[in-house]
Amino acid sequence: MDSISNPYTPNAGAAPEIVVGRDDQLDAFRVLLSRLERGRTEQSMIITGLRGVGKTVLLGQFLDIANAARWEVVEIEASKHDDVRFRQAMFSQLKAALLRLSPRARWSERSRRAAEVLSAFAVSVDLQGTFSVSWDVPPAEGLGDHGDLGMDLTDVFVALGEAAAEQERGVALLVDEVQFLGRAQLEALIQAVHKTVQRRLPITFVGAGLPQIAELAGDAKSYAERLFKFPRIGSLSDEDARKALVEPALVEGVVFDDDAVELAIEITQGYPYFLQELGYQVWGVASSGRVHREDVEIAKEAYESKLDGSFFRVRLDRATPLQTAYMRAMAELGPEPQKAADVARVMGRESTQVGPTRAELIDMGLLYTPEHGYAAFTVPDFDRFMRRAAPELIVPEVQRRKRKDE
Ligand SMILES: Nc1ncnc2c1ncn2[C@@H]1O[C@H](COP(=O)(O)OP(=O)(O)OP(=O)(O)O)[C@@H](O)[C@H]1O
Ligand SMILES: [Mg+2]
Repeated sequence: MDSISNPYTPNAGAAPEIVVGRDDQLDAFRVLLSRLERGRTEQSMIITGLRGVGKTVLLGQFLDIANAARWEVVEIEASKHDDVRFRQAMFSQLKAALLRLSPRARWSERSRRAAEVLSAFAVSVDLQGTFSVSWDVPPAEGLGDHGDLGMDLTDVFVALGEAAAEQERGVALLVDEVQFLGRAQLEALIQAVHKTVQRRLPITFVGAGLPQIAELAGDAKSYAERLFKFPRIGSLSDEDARKALVEPALVEGVVFDDDAVELAIEITQGYPYFLQELGYQVWGVASSGRVHREDVEIAKEAYESKLDGSFFRVRLDRATPLQTAYMRAMAELGPEPQKAADVARVMGRESTQVGPTRAELIDMGLLYTPEHGYAAFTVPDFDRFMRRAAPELIVPEVQRRKRKDE
């Protein structure tokens, strides 16, 4: 069928024709905003899930809900910035949010105060000569300028929350790829929310990221557990997977045979990204207003080579030979989370020798640690891909010796 009418969205963060299976999280977000608006407290959330399950899409839905409720939204995609760059990014985004909330010409006492605290927040970085404040608001004294990220961000959140409350509005920070925040950065956000909850202010932070065990210690951890829910999203139930596949086609007047849907669910296991990619390929194969099982069978090859050539491949392309060998050894052991010691054994090494490689892979977001001592792939089905990409185990030492002989 014609590719212009193809209703599937196999692209990172692309809002699908219909978002299925996320009603619980969407409701929780609506409740969160409504309660904060009324000066009540509510646990915020950090959505967790593997690559391609729809975390970014969900944050996009939150954005729509927040906008409809007239909240100001600050969208941030975290990356591995040092604390100075983080502060800089926060400053410019929160400043923009304040200006949207209240144009400068109409600043009240509270809005001006928030602006001054923001200036102080930025200036305390500026003193280290790193970036200069791009507006002429004098910095507040004694607020936002302690030089401690957590304390400073807390002051900013409180001031901004008060400015928003005065206007009967709210501010929501939506942070994607939370696992890339530095520890001090995540702790600072949590600390800030801790204070605004106590003050019952309409400002919050909602995150999404890989299902990393919260790498937080001490106080921050105990706050985090009280202040946030950590809902995990994953593959869709069979019923929802069916909807995700069938309904976009119906919009274009195309109907799936039941056995075609069954096969598609079996192939994709209901993973949102896989469903979109398979749907997309099937669309190209089917020739009438009806999709038959045979169309899905034929599309499967193009679907698999598309995944191998892009979704999976981009991860492998970023890996060094040693990292690749590590992931191949993990794949040898199967799809489940694997113990560091077992992977090392497959590689013929000691845990301590390959520990740094494992840490690098976690840092890059290719592996995550579901529980202490274990690591798993962040990409669904990556173990099978590794076996296809490297049919034989890779033993790094042997490889090196071979190269010398050549
Ligand atoms: N609820 C849903 N129903 C149907 N399709 C969905 C749903 N959520 C996401 N998708 C589709 O799945 C794909 C992945 O979505 P998204 O980019 O949001 O995942 P992600 O979890 O953010 O992945 P990553 O960790 O790689 O950033 C997209 O093609 C999107 O259109
Ligand atoms: Mg994403």
